[in-house]
Amino acid sequence: MNNKFYPKKEMFQEPLIKNMCEYKELVEEFEKDYEGTWAKFAKEKLDWFEPFTRTLDESNAPFYRWFDGGKLNVAYNCIDRHLKTKKNKAAIIFEGDNGDKRILTYRELAYEVSKTANMFKNQFNIKKGDRVVVYMPMIPEAAITMLACAKIGAIHSVVFGGFSAEALRDRIIDASAKLVVTADGAFRKGKPYMLKPVVDTALEHGCECVEKVCVVERNEQEITWVAGRDYSYNELIKNESSFCKSEPMDSEDPLFLLYTSGSTGKPKGVQHSSAGYILWAQMTMEWVFDIKDNDTYWCTADVGWITGHTYIVYGPLAAGATTVMFEGVPTFPDAGRCWQMVEEYRINQFYTAPTAIRLLHKMGADEPSKYDLSSLRILGTVGEPIDPAAWKWYYEEVGGSKCSIVDTYWQTETGGHMISPLPAATPIKPACATFALPGIVAEVIEEDGTPTPRGEKGFMCITKPWPSMIRTIWNDPERFKKSYFGDCKKDGKPVYFTGDGAMIDDEDYITITGRTDDVINVSGHRMGTAEVEAAIKKHDNVAAVAVVGKPHDIKGEGIFAYVVLKSDDGIADELEIIKEINSLIKTEIGAIALCDDMAFVPDLPKTRSGKIMRRILRSIVKGEAITQDTSTLEDPSIVQKIENIVNG
Ligand code: PRX
Repeated sequence: MNNKFYPKKEMFQEPLIKNMCEYKELVEEFEKDYEGTWAKFAKEKLDWFEPFTRTLDESNAPFYRWFDGGKLNVAYNCIDRHLKTKKNKAAIIFEGDNGDKRILTYRELAYEVSKTANMFKNQFNIKKGDRVVVYMPMIPEAAITMLACAKIGAIHSVVFGGFSAEALRDRIIDASAKLVVTADGAFRKGKPYMLKPVVDTALEHGCECVEKVCVVERNEQEITWVAGRDYSYNELIKNESSFCKSEPMDSEDPLFLLYTSGSTGKPKGVQHSSAGYILWAQMTMEWVFDIKDNDTYWCTADVGWITGHTYIVYGPLAAGATTVMFEGVPTFPDAGRCWQMVEEYRINQFYTAPTAIRLLHKMGADEPSKYDLSSLRILGTVGEPIDPAAWKWYYEEVGGSKCSIVDTYWQTETGGHMISPLPAATPIKPACATFALPGIVAEVIEEDGTPTPRGEKGFMCITKPWPSMIRTIWNDPERFKKSYFGDCKKDGKPVYFTGDGAMIDDEDYITITGRTDDVINVSGHRMGTAEVEAAIKKHDNVAAVAVVGKPHDIKGEGIFAYVVLKSDDGIADELEIIKEINSLIKTEIGAIALCDDMAFVPDLPKTRSGKIMRRILRSIVKGEAITQDTSTLEDPSIVQKIENIVNG
């Protein structure tokens, strides 16, 4: 599929960027006056309590500052400012796992957010700058909690509900959180599941920072209440006033932390700002999703990931859109669930991950044809490369060959889209993220900044600071510098390296080729191999382990572990050990990091200095020929031995 797919112009009425000429004009406007153009958008798009006086401060690079001097409030920009014109418009449409529905208009959302913000202040003594950990299912209260934090200037740190108690505890301690907001649990595939017991275990030791736990009662299953610590959200909220003043925040005040995996065992608390983040969330919502006032937009992500932050909560609401939140899973009660919802709510933009597309394709290739999907205009994908087969099905069967597909490339650290087609303008090449958005200077370069020749793999770098970029790693500014500004330079100056490889073709189209570090991408979720290895090493009988990604039909990449045992008493034991190792992973990280496959090997391919040659292990698991030089290995014969075990 090398041909291009042109946007169907009749699908779009007054898109902000109509064609490639307009795209190029905007890119040139940024080129001519980078700061001036950003300043123009910041003034036009956001409501400020006090105007900013300096657009970009590069004096302490890479700790860039945007819009200094300005004061604003993100929750105010997401809700209050819309009340003049959209108070009765649906802000959030919630659909529960079992089909229960709830619509919150902008006015109702304003009330709920204010009540929650007042509750946080009055009942839990939460002040500007305090950290609040949010461990919630996909229910409106998750968004309300995030916005309530933003309203009073507290910094939220949402932890994905699939993380284990250990992982939750690490994140609570690192952020030194004062309050945890959770739910008893929620519903999945028609059955209740629990979250509060995980919080209880997390708080058993080491979390002295946590003073209170606020529990939303969603599934009404029995839970333990710790007197003096645990409080019912549903009860406390009743007494709170539905007006709360929005705290004026400095542009650079942190809005949230979101922990993500890196190449060492410890997750990184990615810190985002207020003004720059919300500006880009809104702008990309308008450019990439072509959001119009009557649209209903649905992103299937979980609020526990950056996609949920930027494109379920902050972006859509800042743009005054109607955003759908779904508690359930796409395959329950059957693989037509998403399409049934698209029909019912007349969804105009549908945004999901390639993993979900592959799963829905596999489980229900004909399902889309059973529903009226004519409302769809834009189909989005995010999180991992999409393969041509999944792309084709999405384009033809879901989009009826008339929708634009936006393959959005970005990361937790970038805050919002970096490289993406513009739906009404960009001719699309399947499985290709196409071009950098206006204002984003994305370059494929070598470590020294020279452009990588076309058709070859280079480092995907963003060579100018942009407003929604990560500001630092919480508590670890050195790691921030080293992780993102330590690898690539341009004109002698460190530039932001994404950790991804990419390739530019003859027509300047950018294709992302995947991570270049020890991070794997499982179902569009980032997983540090070091984190999984640390969990496996806790097993008494494990002497050494190396984890790599293995291509997987549905997940994109699965987790494959090469394990060296201290004593190997035969296959029966190995089966037992697999179970034990997976149970350890579940405890340490969560079910999302379970190994798909394991091989017990006599040793790992190590250099004489003890470095594990992971590239060899990656090649073996993919069944590729070993092209790496093995002569530097301590024991070159180990490669053949491992190959025989893995590939027979
Ligand atoms: O490797 C890239 C991949 O996902 C990584 C970012 O993961 P995370 O921070 O969890 O954020 C996911 C949601 C934005 C990137 O470094 N990735 C993301 N989008 C794409 C992608 N790979 C290829 N194509 C994409 N569209």
